[in-house]
Amino acid sequence: MKHSSRRYADPPFPRDLAGRDRPDPFFRGLERLLDGLQPVMTGLGGAKYPRGGASGAGREVPMRVASVDRPAEDVAALRLEPEDGGPVRPWQPGWHLDLVLPSGTVRQYSLCGDPADRAGYRIAVRRIPGGTGSGEVHALEPGARVAVRGPRNAFPFARADRYVFIAGGIGITPLLPMAKAAARRGAPFRFVLTGRSRAALPFLDELPSSPSGSVEVRTDDADGVPCGADLLGSPGAGTSVYCCGPPPMIEAVRGALPGRPPLPFFWERFSPPPVRGGVPFEVELARSGRVLAVPADRTALDAVREAVPDAAYSCRQGFCGTCRVPLLRGTADHRDRPAGGAPGADSPDGRDGTVALCVSRAEGGRLVIDL
Ligand code: FES
Repeated sequence: MKHSSRRYADPPFPRDLAGRDRPDPFFRGLERLLDGLQPVMTGLGGAKYPRGGASGAGREVPMRVASVDRPAEDVAALRLEPEDGGPVRPWQPGWHLDLVLPSGTVRQYSLCGDPADRAGYRIAVRRIPGGTGSGEVHALEPGARVAVRGPRNAFPFARADRYVFIAGGIGITPLLPMAKAAARRGAPFRFVLTGRSRAALPFLDELPSSPSGSVEVRTDDADGVPCGADLLGSPGAGTSVYCCGPPPMIEAVRGALPGRPPLPFFWERFSPPPVRGGVPFEVELARSGRVLAVPADRTALDAVREAVPDAAYSCRQGFCGTCRVPLLRGTADHRDRPAGGAPGADSPDGRDGTVALCVSRAEGGRLVIDL
């Protein structure tokens, strides 16, 4: 799927599958080291970040499309392998990568292959009508050259007594490796895959099979549109609920969660959330002096892209960093949720003078940005 959001657990963050507090300090430290080397690599002729900045986006690795499969209607599954034949960086279920397409467009996609496979990555992408990123992905053929950054963790898979996984269509991509991991260690789970029809559901032949788990496939054409309670079932205490799909499905599941005991709820959705609690403000583009009005129900990125159509963005939900630009004047209401951390925790925003245009707003009347 294309990542358009990530997150979260209501109770304190649990520990990862290795029993460690997330995020993994080794990989975070390694990523910071590689990020620090990026300017040096660029200066030596290495890959460049897209305009708009990519602080913290990680090292860019040239890859080739090794194969393209069509596991469902309008879904392309790509296998990506490093051009130099070396191993890929390690990852865990729930991680995603930034895919840098030949046009320079950057999009996030969940890894849906086997974490033990160090020879390449697998992603799956549903074609979105009118979507430039998904359209370009679907046009890729074996041998095409792309690049990736990451992978990174923004959808943590934490150790729990039991699990409910709820996937809507292409939302299966981050949940499939999680469910397979749960099945491997014998953890009880219930996996629900839902969508318009079976033809629209990818990876039906890969659904986890385990004595400890159960799998349900619900399609609208055969079973009707499910409500949140249908999808959630009756999870008991100690169950972590993971959900990935369109926003209405996630909200339906969230609304069906029992109040007692509160269950950890982790979700990831396809599209940006609506602006909440927004008030109008202005963005001034320092290079041209243009002043843009940002209405209460729109984002600064929306306004900026009308004036600067090639302004970089990707997730539009404040976790990838692609849209960050230097903030020259003004006080920002930082609303980004950097990958791998709690909202605002160790975010460069507010500390290195950048602002994520896709979610952040102004606390005063105007933000002046270096664009
Ligand atoms: S587009 Fe990803 S943080 Fe703004």
